[in-house]
Amino acid sequence: MPTTPMTTPDPAVVPPLPASAGRAAPAGAPETAPFAHFPSDVLRGALDGVPPQALESFLDSWNDLPADEYLGTERPYRFRRYGRFRLLDEGLEPLPHGTFLQDRTVNSFVGGVPRLFAPLHDTVAAGPALRAVVQAFRDRLPGPRHTVDTCGVHQIRVVALPDAEGDPAPEGIHQDGHSYVAQVLIRREGVEGAQSRLYDLDRREIHRALLSDPLESIVLDDRRVLHDVSPITAARGAAVGVRDMLLVDFFASFDSSFDSTKEVAL
Ligand SMILES: [Fe+2]
Repeated sequence: MPTTPMTTPDPAVVPPLPASAGRAAPAGAPETAPFAHFPSDVLRGALDGVPPQALESFLDSWNDLPADEYLGTERPYRFRRYGRFRLLDEGLEPLPHGTFLQDRTVNSFVGGVPRLFAPLHDTVAAGPALRAVVQAFRDRLPGPRHTVDTCGVHQIRVVALPDAEGDPAPEGIHQDGHSYVAQVLIRREGVEGAQSRLYDLDRREIHRALLSDPLESIVLDDRRVLHDVSPITAARGAAVGVRDMLLVDFFASFDSSFDSTKEVAL
């Protein structure tokens, strides 16, 4: 496991687990909080039954991510893979690889551009660690999940050098265009910055967190909050700063978050 020091998010800003997660709120019932911020214990517990070798292989896979070619920068600072799955009661069914497309209304940076990222390694896509993580969030979505039948999985690394920062979210404050999004810190080494911030639909900040403990996570209702992440810089004395994230998009299969007409064989 990564060796970043353990920290715990400020309990004052961590909302309680949504009591109605996984169920539609009855008419007239108060809405659930639009997000939840989980200490690492939640995913550590979910991963308890995963064989250590499988977990190690899952975490090591972030060391083999191709450069994101859609950044438009001379030096790539973001690296990633992408896969999508049908959510089944018994696990995840891989869907054909395809381009990832966000609407211009939610992504002013590369919205409208079908992006073809490298697929997940089979060991990740078919492994028990990913299955356990996705299931853990399925059980904790901050709202009803009855239409959610598909997920997209992004493995992302952002790097910073002493003379060059990395920007996890060059689009600024935004929504992703999904139903729910889970953000999981996998690794944070030699990094300053990367404040995760959530906003209500009037762009008032409602939560701010520095994800610092591997497997610490946030899951948000993408229709009720906006989010961004501040740039990262290399910590003093570090030759390189590395921030690895796992993002899981939850959506209905009729959603437009991927372009099913552009399925490709890889
Ligand atoms: Fe985002």
